[in-house]
Amino acid sequence: MKHLGILLSGRGSNFLAIADAIDRGQIEDADISIVISNRAEAAGIAAARARGLSTQVVEARGRKRAEQDAEIIACLQDHGVDLVCLAGYMRLLSPEFVAAYPQAILNIHPSLLPAFPGLDAQAQALQYGVAVTGCTVHFVDEQLDHGVIVLQRAVPVLQGDDEETLSARILEQEHIAYPEAISRVLSGNYTIVDRRYVSRASHNETLIEESK
Ligand code: GAR
Repeated sequence: MKHLGILLSGRGSNFLAIADAIDRGQIEDADISIVISNRAEAAGIAAARARGLSTQVVEARGRKRAEQDAEIIACLQDHGVDLVCLAGYMRLLSPEFVAAYPQAILNIHPSLLPAFPGLDAQAQALQYGVAVTGCTVHFVDEQLDHGVIVLQRAVPVLQGDDEETLSARILEQEHIAYPEAISRVLSGNYTIVDRRYVSRASHNETLIEESK
């Protein structure tokens, strides 16, 4: 049994998609052992409590990142976490955090990285005028939105899209991409060559999946 630790800051819809995928057996032999938020008022933390999961709030305000991260790492270790999943966690991780979980922290970002890292990725895509954007699940390294890519899903930008409509269509794909990426990583059926994720699975795994 593998133990997931979820970090979130807000709504928590990706967390819920992961929890649902575990419940229906799409992510096999895993549980969510702790959900941590840096904001007490995050809807995601209330949703986690409502599902009967262990939760912890580790406030960020007025504290050094390293101090906050040390508390989070201790909490993850107490709960025996094998894989950390950032699900709308809007804080940069300290180098100590990344070093504590080598190739064992995943993040989801609402663009096809390396395009549009950072905040408001969907608005950045609209403003730039791209025809295709999407979402990326990647390992976390010391740089923002930068680590090895596990999976991407493409989303067309439609005429008349605004930030809200585009974000909603990307979010639908995020909810498919994140459970799939977690299940691939937990299977251990891959190697990383330079910065490429290379699947060893016998079935056909593709790095980019175009949304239907
Ligand atoms: C998601 O769109 C996620 O990709 C994004 O925040 C949203 C969280 O939604 N993350 C980032 O922008 C990280 N750079 P959720 O709380 O409903 O999962």
